[in-house]
Amino acid sequence: MAGNFKVWVTRQIPQQGIDMLREVADVEVWEDELPPPRDLILDKIGELDGILALLTDKMDAEVMDRGKKLKVIANYAVGFDNVDVAAATERGILVTNTPGVLTETTADLAFTLLMATARNIVVADKFTRDGKWKTWGPTLLLGQDIHHAKLGLIGLGRIGREMAKRARGFDMDVTYYDVVRNEQAERELGLKYADIDTILKESDFVSLHTPLTPQTRHLIGARELSLMKPTAILINTSRGPVVDQKALYEALRDKVIYAAGLDVFDVEPISKDDPLLTLDNVTVVPHIASASFATRTRMATMAAENLIAGLKGTTPTAPVNPEVLNSPQRRK
Ligand code: DGY
Repeated sequence: MAGNFKVWVTRQIPQQGIDMLREVADVEVWEDELPPPRDLILDKIGELDGILALLTDKMDAEVMDRGKKLKVIANYAVGFDNVDVAAATERGILVTNTPGVLTETTADLAFTLLMATARNIVVADKFTRDGKWKTWGPTLLLGQDIHHAKLGLIGLGRIGREMAKRARGFDMDVTYYDVVRNEQAERELGLKYADIDTILKESDFVSLHTPLTPQTRHLIGARELSLMKPTAILINTSRGPVVDQKALYEALRDKVIYAAGLDVFDVEPISKDDPLLTLDNVTVVPHIASASFATRTRMATMAAENLIAGLKGTTPTAPVNPEVLNSPQRRK
C-alpha cells in the first residue's frame, strides 16, 4: 500500500500498469475473467478515488453519484462509449482513454480481417482440416482480389489513416469519408474524399473506423447495405452498434453483399446461437483488434499514468474531458 488513494482496477491488466499504480495508491484488482457485476461496482465506488475501468464496465451517472470521492475514470481503451462523459464533466470527474498506443495494432487486425474474409481463410482452414480437399481445383474456394481493389474508409482518425497506409502496399484505391475533411492526409496518402453513399456504392471493401456516438449508431443499416456491390466486403473493428446487425445478417444471408469481417458486435459476447454465426460468409473474432502483448502493455501503462495524474491533480496524457482540468469543480 502507498499513499492514501484507493484505486480499483476492474480486471487483471498487464502487471506493469498495476505496479505503477501501487507506487501511489492502495490498489485492488478484480481478478475474475468476467467483469465485476454492476451491483458490486455500485457498492464499491463510494470508497474509491480512482477507477481503472474497461469497456465492459458501464460508468454512468448512477455510478458517479455513488462515487462521492471519485476523481478519475481511466478507461483501458481508446473508445469510451461505456462512460457517460457529460455526467462526469458535470461532477468534476476526469475521464481519460488510451489513444495512439493501439492504433497500428488495431489497423493490423482490420487489415487481417479484410484479407481473411476476401480469401475465405477461415472456411479454407476448416475445409482442409476436415479432409474435404480432394485435388487442386480451378474453382476451389475462390475469393475477391485485394490488390488494386477500391477500399472505402468511413472514419479517418488515427486507425483509419493506418488502414490507408496498409492499403497503399496493396495498390488499393482508397476513398474516405469523415466529418472533418483531411486534405493533408489526402495528399500524403493519395486518398479521395467522398460522401458515405458514394463510398458504399463504389467500394470493394468498406472498413468502419468511427467512434460509437448517437450519430454513428446504426450508421450502416439495410439501406446502406443495399447500396453496396454484391461483391463487396464490410469490415468492422470500431463498435458493433455502428452496424445494424440484424440488417447485416439479412444482407449476408441474401447475398446483398459478399461477406463481412467483424471484430465487434451489437451485444458482446455474441451468442453462439446468433444466426449470424450460421453463415460462411462472415469472419468473426472476439473484439481482439488491440490484442498484442506489446500493445496491451502500453495500454496498461498509459491508463495507469492517466489515472495517477487524475489522482494527483496534474494533467494526464489523454483526457477525454479536458474542460475538467482547470475547472474549479475538479475533484481534488
Ligand atoms: C478500444 O480501445 O476502444 C478497443 O475497442 C479495445 O482496445
